[in-house]
Amino acid sequence: MFSAATPRASNDQPVPRHVAIVMDGNGRWAKRRFMPRGMGHKAGVDSLVKVVQAAADRGIGYLTVFAFSSENWKRPEEEVSGLMSLLIVALSKHLTKLESDGVQIRVVGDLTTVSSKVRQALLDACEATAHNDRLVLTVAFNYGGRWDMVQACQRIVADGVPADQVTEATVSRYMAMNYAPDPDLFIRTGGEVRLSNFLLWQSAYAELVFTDCLWPDFDGAELDKALAAYWQRERRFGDVGQDEPPEAGLAVNTSGN
Ligand code: IPE
Ligand code: IPE
Ligand code: MG
Repeated sequence: MFSAATPRASNDQPVPRHVAIVMDGNGRWAKRRFMPRGMGHKAGVDSLVKVVQAAADRGIGYLTVFAFSSENWKRPEEEVSGLMSLLIVALSKHLTKLESDGVQIRVVGDLTTVSSKVRQALLDACEATAHNDRLVLTVAFNYGGRWDMVQACQRIVADGVPADQVTEATVSRYMAMNYAPDPDLFIRTGGEVRLSNFLLWQSAYAELVFTDCLWPDFDGAELDKALAAYWQRERRFGDVGQDEPPEAGLAVNTSGN
């Protein structure tokens, strides 16, 4: 069910308020070109900058991207440190433009275990763009859906919330993305058909779109394909379909005939 305030695309379809993307396939993109994996990550940043613009142009209010997972520390040290440096370089290269384009940057994830340089770069970007409201770009960094649930539980307990007062709304309030509506559309590039621990709580009713397109090849046209797939779905949220006839045949016969 879409509210009256939902922006509409030129085809009069409702624009998803929140799109979440698992930006996967950078390594394979590089490998196919006989390049080191780091080149794939670098190309992935360029892709992200284009997709942020495309999302804003289409009226998407919240774009959340998986940049580094809680599990990505398992990668070779050289790749991890390359990703950390790339984040800093990418922010310094693109921040001014993102800021002037009305993008508000936010970050979710465990920043206590990243280096102070990385943490500061992320927090500075958030601070510099906090006044913007065209599109909220959330960078999930050292993020995992399970981490998010654990940190929410820890803070609920620390705040002394009585057990019988813990509701779904309480948990949502303590989740890292409590400022955003739940994702309507969850896209994963790179051909894998799994969630890989991204936004587990928040994606309960997200429409899932998986594409073989590798992240560095993803662009506005690919986003439009995902939107077209989204518009084919009927979102029921556990209800019956809108065109469903009344279930007359299953009515209980109480007349004794
Ligand atoms: C996603 O691309 C980027 C990160 C996880 C940081 P990958 O690096 O996972 O690319 P593939 O899956 O190996 O191709
Ligand atoms: C998910 O991709 C994490 C990010 C895109 C940041 P991975 O490449 O790490 O996922 P798996 O290992 O294939 O599940
Ligand atoms: Mg991958």
